[in-house]
Amino acid sequence: MNSSTEVPSFKLNSGTLMPAIGLGVANADNSPDSKITAAVLHAIEVGYSHFDTASIYGTECVLGDALFKAISMGVTSRQDLFITSKLWSDSHDPENVVSALQQTLTNLKLDYLDLYLIHSPMKLKKGTRQPAKAEDVLPSDIKGTWSAMETCFERGLAKSIGVSNFTVKELAQLLAHARVPPAVNQVEMHPLWQQKKLRKFCNGVGIHVTAWSPLGAPGTYYGTDALTNPVIKSISSKHNKSPAQVEMHPVWQQKKLRKFCNGVGIHGLYRWELRSK
Ligand SMILES: NC(=O)c1ccc[n+]([C@@H]2O[C@H](COP(=O)([O-])OP(=O)(O)OC[C@H]3O[C@@H](n4cnc5c(N)ncnc54)[C@H](OP(=O)(O)O)[C@@H]3O)[C@@H](O)[C@H]2O)c1
Repeated sequence: MNSSTEVPSFKLNSGTLMPAIGLGVANADNSPDSKITAAVLHAIEVGYSHFDTASIYGTECVLGDALFKAISMGVTSRQDLFITSKLWSDSHDPENVVSALQQTLTNLKLDYLDLYLIHSPMKLKKGTRQPAKAEDVLPSDIKGTWSAMETCFERGLAKSIGVSNFTVKELAQLLAHARVPPAVNQVEMHPLWQQKKLRKFCNGVGIHVTAWSPLGAPGTYYGTDALTNPVIKSISSKHNKSPAQVEMHPVWQQKKLRKFCNGVGIHGLYRWELRSK
């Protein structure tokens, strides 16, 4: 991607346009001299406008600093950015949701989010981090949590609201009582886990599917070996592209796969053709 690259957008069921490619800032260095600031400024310069964070990542403040700097320098404007964050699972109680979002907005130095997601359908005891233990899990009340998310939407604190890591069954239950349907379901998706059933369901009810860890999150405790998969490697050598380029190409060729929220290298992943046989 370079500064002249036009990133396609998807129209969410809220009417908001979401850039198809986003840069995730999970598990990144959030120290005061974090490299995130330079990385985000560079990303904006080469064409990114969509950034994905979450309360549990601990990166909202450094991302907020970088965005503030970019806006102050005139490199971008608030309305040209699309910022996503997520409600952590220890704040599912309806009375905690609006205040959690307000804290997120303070961290990000923003007045509103473009997209606010319930990070996971799993409700956890207050103060629980990840990975959670079985004894930290509480009975879920997504109906109550979603109602508070709708309040966030109605108060203009989030232009769109959605969920993450929800199954078809969990989405169907939520849709049965939602006044505002979720705009997005952000889930793990890459060539080794294509989420066909979930995508079919979501396409049918107008929920946009976003991929997290599109490269399979190599090296993490939950990651896969997608980048070293023999099929991916044979396609990449045949087309003289890297495995990461092969994994990311559906963004441009199969719009059904929708946005890939990613922490991948900024240059050279897109804009090439792969014809199926
Ligand atoms: N909603 C959720 O529950 C959830 C869960 C997980 C993640 N997410 C979101 O998804 C984003 C991406 O997740 P992720 O970082 O796990 O996913 P990923 O994009 O699948 O994996 C990132 C890894 O790929 C490597 N990489 C980047 N570019 C590469 C390239 N061109 N060739 C080879 N390897 C490359 C990176 O190495 P380097 O570090 O060396 O660059 C890093 O180790 C997160 O930042 C977060 O915003 C959401």
